[in-house]
Amino acid sequence: MKLDTYNITSMMATTSSSSSSSSSRRSSSSSRRQLLEPLCSPVLVVITILVLSVVTVPINGYISSRPITTTAFARSKLDGRTSSTSSLLMSSSSSSSSSSKYKKIFVAGGSKGVGHAIVTKLSERGTEVVALVRSEKSKKELDKIDGVTAILGDAFDQKGVENAMDGCDAAITTLGGTTGDRRVDYEGNNNVIESAGILGVQRIILLTSIGCGSSKEAAPPAVFEVLKDVLEAKEKAENILMDYYTNSNWSIIRPGGLVSEVMTGQAILTEDNKTIGSIHREDVADLVIKVLDSTNTERKILSAVDPSITSSVAVEGKVIPAFEL
Ligand SMILES: NC(=O)c1ccc[n+]([C@@H]2O[C@H](COP(=O)([O-])OP(=O)(O)OC[C@H]3O[C@@H](n4cnc5c(N)ncnc54)[C@H](OP(=O)(O)O)[C@@H]3O)[C@@H](O)[C@H]2O)c1
Repeated sequence: MKLDTYNITSMMATTSSSSSSSSSRRSSSSSRRQLLEPLCSPVLVVITILVLSVVTVPINGYISSRPITTTAFARSKLDGRTSSTSSLLMSSSSSSSSSSKYKKIFVAGGSKGVGHAIVTKLSERGTEVVALVRSEKSKKELDKIDGVTAILGDAFDQKGVENAMDGCDAAITTLGGTTGDRRVDYEGNNNVIESAGILGVQRIILLTSIGCGSSKEAAPPAVFEVLKDVLEAKEKAENILMDYYTNSNWSIIRPGGLVSEVMTGQAILTEDNKTIGSIHREDVADLVIKVLDSTNTERKILSAVDPSITSSVAVEGKVIPAFEL
């Protein structure tokens, strides 16, 4: 089983420093945030990957406090993360039939992976979506989906994000990765958060990762080292949202290792920040849409894992208390 550990090569790029052009709130804490800027040694990354490949042992899934009806655990092959997840096999979603009090949702990161699954599922239930995309190809593809308007833009451009979000009543960001030496995990997410603040879009869902902030200890130390840059960049975005956007109804969802397979419907959210495991991208999307309409999840940080699938990093026999939406 191969760990889907983001894009390891992109993690070797130096994390960019944050832009600070338009927010005094950001600049007031810039020195503190600078301290979080990690330096990632390519040598360390390579060594850690080698160590991981030796010590990683497949462990059968968790025991959840919620009854798990699936007896046959999916033997999921963790994917290579390079292909567009428009190839994700989509099953019918448990969230697709419900309606939302939010009528027009801004999605950043909707061209692939979890974000793409979110866009598709929102469309299936009749919710309008505005998706920020970087390529003509993604725009063409998303524009074909009912109720979806794709807008060309770059998450590094705050004003472009703000213009795209204008008229939406909720914002979801699944942004991740690097462009050249710039990492979008902090800068792009921060632009989404800041744009929502400027426009008065109060419902914000930020997708980060297990291993960020209070869940740092959930990640085995070797895994944390490999993912340090990306986790710390995402953590900075989390901190901005929590510390400065106190009037927002934010939710932070931290998934475990992502897998591109059909949803199991068995994934859970938990406030247990020691939990780690795997989860299918489509299940994350389903949970994010449920979170959108759940007032219980406002101002909450929740980890997302699937106890019904195997994970090489999960703690065998761990009881995971499921968060009730
Ligand atoms: N892989 C894992 O195991 C794992 C585990 C936990 C959390 N996560 C995080 O979960 C999230 C979803 O992951 P995923 O693998 O499903 O999706 P992904 O492949 O990481 O997708 C990232 C999305 O962000 C977009 N993006 C990146 N930079 C951008 C920019 N400058 N402007 C506009 N859009 C930009 C990409 O658009 P393009 O198509 O233009 O590139 C893409 O739609 C990510 O934040 C990821 O880091 C991943």
